[in-house]
Amino acid sequence: MKVGILHSLIRKDEKLLLEEFGKRKNVELVMIDDRKIKFNLGKEKFDYDVVIERCINHSRALHALKLYESAGVKCVNTSRVATICGDKLLTSIELNNHNIPQPEIRVAFTEESALEAIEEMGYPVVLKPAVGSWGRLLSKVNDRDAAESILEHKTVLGTYHHSIFYIQKYIEKKGRDIRSFVVGDKCIAAIYRESEHWITNTARGGKATNCSVTPELEKISVEAAQAVGGGVLALDVFESDEGLLINEVNYTMEFKNSIATTGVNIPGHIVDYVLKVGSGE
Ligand SMILES: Nc1ncnc2c1ncn2[C@@H]1O[C@H](COP(=O)(O)OP(=O)(O)OP(=O)(O)O)[C@@H](O)[C@H]1O
Ligand SMILES: [Mg+2]
Repeated sequence: MKVGILHSLIRKDEKLLLEEFGKRKNVELVMIDDRKIKFNLGKEKFDYDVVIERCINHSRALHALKLYESAGVKCVNTSRVATICGDKLLTSIELNNHNIPQPEIRVAFTEESALEAIEEMGYPVVLKPAVGSWGRLLSKVNDRDAAESILEHKTVLGTYHHSIFYIQKYIEKKGRDIRSFVVGDKCIAAIYRESEHWITNTARGGKATNCSVTPELEKISVEAAQAVGGGVLALDVFESDEGLLINEVNYTMEFKNSIATTGVNIPGHIVDYVLKVGSGE
C-alpha cells in the first residue's frame, strides 16, 4: 500500500506516525512537503492509496486536500471535514444540525449588532475568530465596557477574519476541560486539561492528566465527530451543569503529549485507520 504523508515540518507527532507506519508490513511511505507542491490541475496522476494530512497551516491543508481529492486520491481527513472543522461557525452549524449539545452561540456582523447580541446573552461571553487555533486572540468579555472596546479593536485593527463576530456563552469549567480523541467510530482516549487560566490549552500551559472515557463522553465525542464528517478528530469538551458540551473539533490532531498520559498508542490507532481507508474497507 502506498501512503502519502502530506506535511509541513516533521514535528514529534509526525515522527511518531512515521515510526508506527514503519512497523507495518507492505507499506510504502511517500513524504509530500507542502512547501514543494506545484499542482498541475487536471494533469496530475497519483498512485497513492491514501494521503494523510499533517500540515500546520489550515488553508494549505484544506486546499491541498481539495486538490488531491480532485485527482481521485482518498484522504484522511477529507476536505469536507477540514472545511467544517477549520471554521468554528461551520462546526457549530453542523453540531446544531445533529443535535449535539454545545455552548450557546450568537453570530453578528457589525459592532452594534454584536454588542446587542452580547447584552441579550448576558456576561461573561467569549469572542473568538471563526478561523484560528492554539487559543490565540480569544477574549473573555466580562462586562459592557470590555465588550465595547474589544468590538472596536476588532473592527479597527482586525483582519478579515475578525469581521464575523462569533460569540459564545462562557462556560464555568471549574479549572479544567476535556480533550477526547476519536478515530473512526471509537473514542480511543481522553485527557483533562487543567489550568488556573480560563484558557486550558496545553500549548498555553494547561496540565494534562488521564480522563477515563465514560459512556457519556464516548457517545458525545463519537456523535460530534460523525456530525462533522468523521475520521481522526480531537474534540474539546466542557463539563457543565447541563452535562457535556462540545466546544470545537480539531481535524489535524496533536497527540504527542497524550500518549504517556493515557497509556494509549494514539498514533497506532491513527495508522490502523489510515491503512483501512487506503485498503478501501
Ligand atoms: N465558551 C467558553 N467557555 C469557557 N472556556 C472556553 C470557552 N471557549 C474557549 N474556552 C477555553 O479556551 C480554550 C481554547 O478555546 P478554543 O479551543 O475554542 O480555541 P482554539 O484557539 O481553537 O484552540 P485549539 O488550539 O484547541 O484549536 C478552550 O480549550 C477552553 O479552555
Ligand atoms: Mg481548542
